[in-house]
Amino acid sequence: MFTFPTVVTLTLAYYANHASARPAGVATAVAPAEYTANPSVGGGSGSYKDSAHFRLYNVADASAAAQSIKVLEAAHQCFVEEQGWRTPGLAQETTGNNGPWYKTNIYKVAESDIPGAAGVQTADPDAGLAYLKVLEEYIAMPDVVVHEYGHAMHYSEKNWIDQTRTGAWWETIANFIADSYIATPLCEKAKTAAGLAGGDSLIELDKVIGDSHQVIVDATADTGNNYQAWPFLSYITNNPDSYTGLGKSALLDMIRKYDLNSNETPLHSLERLLSGVTIQKVIGRYWARMAYVDIGHEKAQALFNTQRETLTYANLDSNGNGKYTAKTARQPRYMGANIIPLTTTASTVSVTVTATGNYTATLAVKAASGAIRYVDVDGSASATLATGEEASLVVVNTPALVQYDAFSLSAEVSKGLDYSIQLTGATA
Ligand SMILES: *[C@@H]1O[C@H](CO)[C@@H](O)[C@H](O)[C@H]1NC(C)=O
Repeated sequence: MFTFPTVVTLTLAYYANHASARPAGVATAVAPAEYTANPSVGGGSGSYKDSAHFRLYNVADASAAAQSIKVLEAAHQCFVEEQGWRTPGLAQETTGNNGPWYKTNIYKVAESDIPGAAGVQTADPDAGLAYLKVLEEYIAMPDVVVHEYGHAMHYSEKNWIDQTRTGAWWETIANFIADSYIATPLCEKAKTAAGLAGGDSLIELDKVIGDSHQVIVDATADTGNNYQAWPFLSYITNNPDSYTGLGKSALLDMIRKYDLNSNETPLHSLERLLSGVTIQKVIGRYWARMAYVDIGHEKAQALFNTQRETLTYANLDSNGNGKYTAKTARQPRYMGANIIPLTTTASTVSVTVTATGNYTATLAVKAASGAIRYVDVDGSASATLATGEEASLVVVNTPALVQYDAFSLSAEVSKGLDYSIQLTGATA
């Protein structure tokens, strides 16, 4: 759980009429070591502290300001310099990456300026530049400032900012960026060079696993999962299944190869990146790996190992004789899943799945050593378990992709997968 108020974002309408296609051109000039200050973005009044790529306004506590600038510079080093995100220092209208390059402004603000939030990213639409507003108490916290800087990077990338169906991934991406910075090896080099430490993963298992039946990215107010759905982005980035088209640049590729102004969903963009594997298989395997959080993210898995006993897995009703039916309220919605830990009663576990729609089901078998293997359940499957092995069945609702607005779920994506299973050698 976040211990700070929900990080809000500005409405996407703010960006309406501000669409500009990402330039196809390659970099034709080299960014200077120090960007130019641009105090007009966000008002520019008060005292400030500069670094090469940032200007931080009005922070009273000098050591907090120094720490904040360090964190932001490390994020810039990691994501812009090393991972190739388009720098928030380039205006939206700039084509060909020719500059000018501007420092990103961060303003310390009062709670009344950003009610209910620790920080927000906003923008000057005329300048085409993002800037941040953050409460002083959070000014040096990477789960706030790197999250907001992630929005600024996403804004700079342009392709997804004016599209409703990508807008729902706005928070998903910012939390993925913040978690990658804090809790994965990705930014280790940049953090180490600046003397900065990492921390625990931001993963919220009670939501991402406890409510795994929800639409994969659901931005419904109060009940959605758009802040918590980012482990899917970790999965496609870490690519533990070595699928062609996924890997280190998967998210940037999804953004950059988006069908411009199509308002298609990010999953449609992802589907086009794949070769030799379907998007249904990728999402099915993502959820199968979430049975034991085996997504190439050590710190997230460590949290799972300490929290798993507390998570909700009440997905099924028993009909006796090893037969179970998904509870209506827990039926997996569009690209959502049921993760079903099994209690084995024999060394061979067999399962048959019967469903009314397209699904992807997998047995995840975990050895005492921690190694996990995956058995596809194509209607039925069985697995022989060695001593000390445990198993989970994962059933995912994987129809053909549909265009959907995660802010306003349609009946089609809200419809659960009605299924039943027959188990032998285990109970659910
Ligand atoms: C189910 O899968 C088949 C084969 O991939 C596909 O043609 C069909 O459109 C899918 N049905 C739905 C409802 O998504």
